[in-house]
Order: sequence, then C-alpha cells, then structure tokens
Amino acid sequence: MRLSKSSQEYCVLDLVVGARPNLVKVAPLIRELQYDDQLKFRLVHTGQHYDNRMSEEFFDVLEIPHEHVNLEVGSSSHAKQTACIMERFEDCLMGRRPSMVVVFGDVNSTMACALVGAKLGIPIAHVEAGLRSFDRSMPEEINRIVTDSLSDLLLVSEPAGMVNLRSEGRPETAIRFVGNIMIDSLLRHLPVCSARKTYSHYGLMPGQYALLTLHRPSNVDDQETLRSLWTCFKELSSIIPIIFPAHPRTVKTLKELDLLLVKTPNLHVTDPVDYLDVLCLQKHALFVMTDSGGIQEESSVLGVPCLTLRENTERPITVSEGTSTLVGKSTEHIWRAAQDILQGRYKKGKPIALWDGRAAHRIVSSIKEHLGLGAGRSC
Ligand code: UD1
Repeated sequence: MRLSKSSQEYCVLDLVVGARPNLVKVAPLIRELQYDDQLKFRLVHTGQHYDNRMSEEFFDVLEIPHEHVNLEVGSSSHAKQTACIMERFEDCLMGRRPSMVVVFGDVNSTMACALVGAKLGIPIAHVEAGLRSFDRSMPEEINRIVTDSLSDLLLVSEPAGMVNLRSEGRPETAIRFVGNIMIDSLLRHLPVCSARKTYSHYGLMPGQYALLTLHRPSNVDDQETLRSLWTCFKELSSIIPIIFPAHPRTVKTLKELDLLLVKTPNLHVTDPVDYLDVLCLQKHALFVMTDSGGIQEESSVLGVPCLTLRENTERPITVSEGTSTLVGKSTEHIWRAAQDILQGRYKKGKPIALWDGRAAHRIVSSIKEHLGLGAGRSC
C-alpha cells in the first residue's frame, strides 16, 4: 500500500504479534518507526495470548501503543488456533493491504500470518529468521521452517541462522544479519531493572536464589516428566531458594498432579511476572533454569549462568559464547550443574556480535532497502 501524507509517500507495515515474547521484540521496532517518515505501521495482535499477565501488562511496561487490530483468537489446538488466525488475518489484509507483513519469532501467530500474507502476494519479513533446533517434535521448529520458507526478507539474530538459511538454498539477497532485537529491549530497560528489588517480595537477597521458568510442551505437558522435574526442583530448593513464575500451561499440569496443594518452603511458585520483574529476577539470580529461548539469550547478555532444560537449542551462540549449558530434563545433569555453580564453577560468557541494542535500527534499514525506499526514492 502506498499512501501519501503531506505530499510525501510512505509505506505501511503490518507488524504481527501474538504471544508474550513477540511483544518484547516488536517494542524497539515500533520505537524506531515512530520517528520514520517513510514507514508507518499497523499493529496486529492475534490474541494468541490474552491474559493480562501474558499480554496487556507487557504493552504497558514496554510502552507499546495499543494495537490497531485484535483478532481475539484465544487458545485452541494447534490446527484450530492456526486456522482461526489465518481466517481473521486474511479478512484484515483484504480490508487494508500493507506493503509488507513483519512477523517475529516462532509462535503459531508468526507462521499463520506469514502464510496468509504470502498467499496474497504481500512481501514477508521474518525477524529472528534461520534459527533451527533440528527437532521437528517442537511446534516452534515447524513454525520456523514454514515461516522462513515463505519470507522474502530474512532478518537474522545470530550467525548460525545465516548458515542454516544458506544451506537451505536461500539467496544472499534475502538474508540480513541484523542482530538480536530482544536485546534492544533488555539494554533499554536494564537500568530500571537493576534498581528493582523484585526478589525481596520473596524474602530473598541478590545472588542467593535461582530463577526457574518452564513452559515447553516437552517439559510440562507430560505428567511424568513434570513430576520428575518438580521433585528435582523441590530437592534443589533445600540448598538454594527458587523463584518460579509459572506459565498457565505449566500450572495446568501441576494442578492435575495436585503438586500445588502443599507449599514447598523455598520453592516460590508465582503468577507470570511482568517484563521488568523477570529481567530484575534474572539479573540478580545466582543462576537461571529455563526452557525459554528468550531467557537463554537474556541471561547470556546479563552474564548469569543458565541451565537450559532442553536437549537442544536453536540458539547455539548462547552455549558457545554465552552462559548457557544444555542440561535437558535429566535430574542428574541439573543437580551436577547446579552444584558446580554453587561452588563457583560456571561459564562467564563473552559479548555477542550485534547484540548491542541497535538491531531495530538495522531492521528498519533492511526493510527500507528491500522496499526500495531510500534517498530520493519512494515506496
Ligand atoms: C506459546 C508459543 C511458544 C512461546 C510461548 C511464550 C506456540 C506454538 N508456542 O506457547 O513458542 O515460547 O508462547 O509464552 O505458538 N494460556 C492462558 N492464557 C494466555 C495464553 C495461554 O491461560 O494468555 C494457556 C491456555 O490454556 C493455552 C496454553 O496456555 O491453551 C498454551 O498457550 P499457547 O499460546 O497455545 O502456547 P504457549 O504454551 O503459551
């Protein structure tokens, strides 16, 4: 779509968000676009995440303007949720056709909207392209593969993404190494988070607790797996207190197992916390245990050791240069790694190329180049 504002032409981007991590990624891009004369945006929220704690609070804290469109799809099976997003997003694109659809990460909303846009012949840009766990049992891996195969502009956060896209035969002209936009958000909010004392709500001190997050289907949907992990965390909490903001998906299985009926001292299970609180809790933790992709990245930049509760990662730089160690769901590995950290043996990590707070700026430049915008040229 080309529109003209005060005799100047500009292009409209549809920015698509659906789940909590998408909001952390879109915020820096919106900030960058707010000062741009050639690019305007429409923010489309699919409604995949709808609880206040998973969505609304993130808008406030990250200073994201209210979405222009909410597709209100809610929760469902993968096929039903994807189909509902597609149907509603297609109507939205028919009503007003953008110059480009920009999708983020690897959630169902990402894939569904890329598919709809591509079929309507609208260029797709994928932020966080090229990541591969090579594990197709993860719904996110399927979403990544489909989204990348449909995207015209592949905006890559770490070098492994470039390697993967090249080996899949994607042309150099479509690939841009722009760095990690999630880290733009982290660096912006770090001063405020560092000064926060969220840990004190649990009677804890900096460096004297571990932070736990857990929501992957492979860890939380199977009752026996979650029971075994829970036993491990319970035992671990007797030597280091654990703060555990629990995802609704995880709470559901914990309730089915009656594991939340009796409180475990030092294992502090809470509702999901907002972005600033989760950064504060990470920054001041002795170590983090997680299966989240974003937290693997954030803890690497914060220099906090991270035990990644997965067998693989699509973000290998967090292991090779960052602070992450893959421990899977083996309670023995988790124990051994935690003991090492308690005895001062852990990865320190190094600075990671282009995780520097400027990714949004590079993304906007890449989009403009792709759309043919630039000095003396219009959309
Ligand atoms: C989704 C993403 C995952 C991402 C995660 C971040 C997919 C396939 N997965 O997983 O990659 O890391 O978001 O949180 O897109 N629910 C609520 N309230 C909400 C949202 C969800 O109660 O606001 C509950 C519902 O019972 C729902 C379940 O959580 O069925 C799972 O939600 P869903 O969006 O399907 O996947 P996530 O597990 O959140």
